[in-house]
Amino acid sequence: MTDLSTRLAALDDVQVPPEADFASAWAAGISPEQILIDGVVRAWDGERALVTSPVCQGGRRTPLGAGASLTREASLEALDAAVRAWDHGRGEWPTNHVGRRIEHCADFVERMRAVREPVVRLLMWEIAKPRPDAEKEFDRTVQYVVDTLEALKELDRGAGRFVQAGGVIAQIRRAPLGPTLCMGPFNYPLNETFTTLIPALLMGNPVVVKLPKYGALCQVPVLRAFAEAFPPGVVNVVNGDGPVVVGPLLESGQLASLAFIGTARVANLLKRQHPRLNRMRCILGLEAKNAAIVLEDADLDLAVKECVAGALSFNGQRCTGLKLLWVHRSVEERFLARLADAVDALSFGAPWERGVTLTPLPEEGKVARLRAFVDDATARGATVVNRHGGQSSSTFVFPSVVRGVRPGMALHSEEQFGPIVPVSTFDSVDEVLDWIAEGQYGQQVSLFGRSPATIGSLCDALANQVSRINLNAQCQRGPDVFPFTGRKDSAEGTLSVSDALRAFSIRAMVAAPSTEPNRALLRGILAGRSSRFISTDYLF
Ligand code: G3H
Repeated sequence: MTDLSTRLAALDDVQVPPEADFASAWAAGISPEQILIDGVVRAWDGERALVTSPVCQGGRRTPLGAGASLTREASLEALDAAVRAWDHGRGEWPTNHVGRRIEHCADFVERMRAVREPVVRLLMWEIAKPRPDAEKEFDRTVQYVVDTLEALKELDRGAGRFVQAGGVIAQIRRAPLGPTLCMGPFNYPLNETFTTLIPALLMGNPVVVKLPKYGALCQVPVLRAFAEAFPPGVVNVVNGDGPVVVGPLLESGQLASLAFIGTARVANLLKRQHPRLNRMRCILGLEAKNAAIVLEDADLDLAVKECVAGALSFNGQRCTGLKLLWVHRSVEERFLARLADAVDALSFGAPWERGVTLTPLPEEGKVARLRAFVDDATARGATVVNRHGGQSSSTFVFPSVVRGVRPGMALHSEEQFGPIVPVSTFDSVDEVLDWIAEGQYGQQVSLFGRSPATIGSLCDALANQVSRINLNAQCQRGPDVFPFTGRKDSAEGTLSVSDALRAFSIRAMVAAPSTEPNRALLRGILAGRSSRFISTDYLF
């Protein structure tokens, strides 16, 4: 056996140090079958579904615990709780003063900090996220909540004054939309659930969260913090089979907004289930096929470093990941040689092992699906150029650098969402611009080069095709104050700390002809504090 095959075999039977033990996550009061409905954390006593880890022991996926698999009725119970909290917009939460909502959320974030370690451990086991990345996901999420509180104060300060125009005096605020369904993805189960859930809540919308199939258990430790920090019905968290649990929520017609991060196919299925299409606002983060364009004057060492990180961070399972590298023919050989070496040098192992970059893949059947991508490409003339490319264990596959990816190969147009680095060659950058223009997606692009004239004109062309152009750097979402969106089948709506507050709200105004009786009326409302909407309070 080679050293590599020994290490691959070891991945099928990992040794677990005490500091990575997941059983400790199931501490007193926290268990995998818990859900949250109407302010109560309950142990679901109906059907359950065993969750297994891609981290194998004894040659098979490690069982982590049985999560709740709710019935249609239980899911509708959660929706009813949110609908009651909304109460046609007259509920305590949607009409509450912004400052009070901020207090609830600040209380929540303090309680959330206390469960960092159980969440991190479950992220390592459930989706095999390396420990530093799991810790970063938790900390980034906490910071997102804190930043959102500040952004909301700022938004409210702007709304806390009257405007006058054309003889009309008005106060304009952002009002909630109504009951909201939030669904995050498996690759950032905590962060990408919270980046919609928290702004939706803060704007006054009661929420039902449907946990993802992979990445559900790591959110269970947070349920108690929700229950303790928010009034009943404001946050409800359900788990189970999508069609059983989610279908009825949409068919009810009661949802005013849907926040979904996942595939365009599922987003379309969900939208169509709502009986009144125009009544549900959708905020969607979908697939992408982000390209890196390596120009002839690029700093190749930098380009290789960024392309490896961009294509293979968290095993390529990021919607912002680089999914196709376009390399100018004049630098192709040098770039590919360095890229293949850099990829082969990546370390792999269990998520808690120090320095590990590559880890097992959470989705069942993923190794075979990735192999099919590579087989399709090589059958049509592409080649795998790195030595370790494609070597695998039960749930792990070493990344393949695939050279000569051309039209007609699935890797040329489809998102692989895993550890494959496809490379195409171009002579004229117009070939790449045409590929982007004709493609299904429009999220981001990375440009590697040094010429101000070339990069400047490419930015002009690309700004009308994608939503972020990264210069000499990989594609990414952060920092979270920046707008995160996409064109075509990549997104609907914009998320950022401040944009998300707008996404989950609608402008509402009180307007009156600026006559003395009306001014006296408004002065009376302010002096008597008889409205929460009409208010000039300043949020410190
Ligand atoms: O999966 C998509 C994520 O939003 C990507 O976020 O660029 O911070 O990894 P990231």
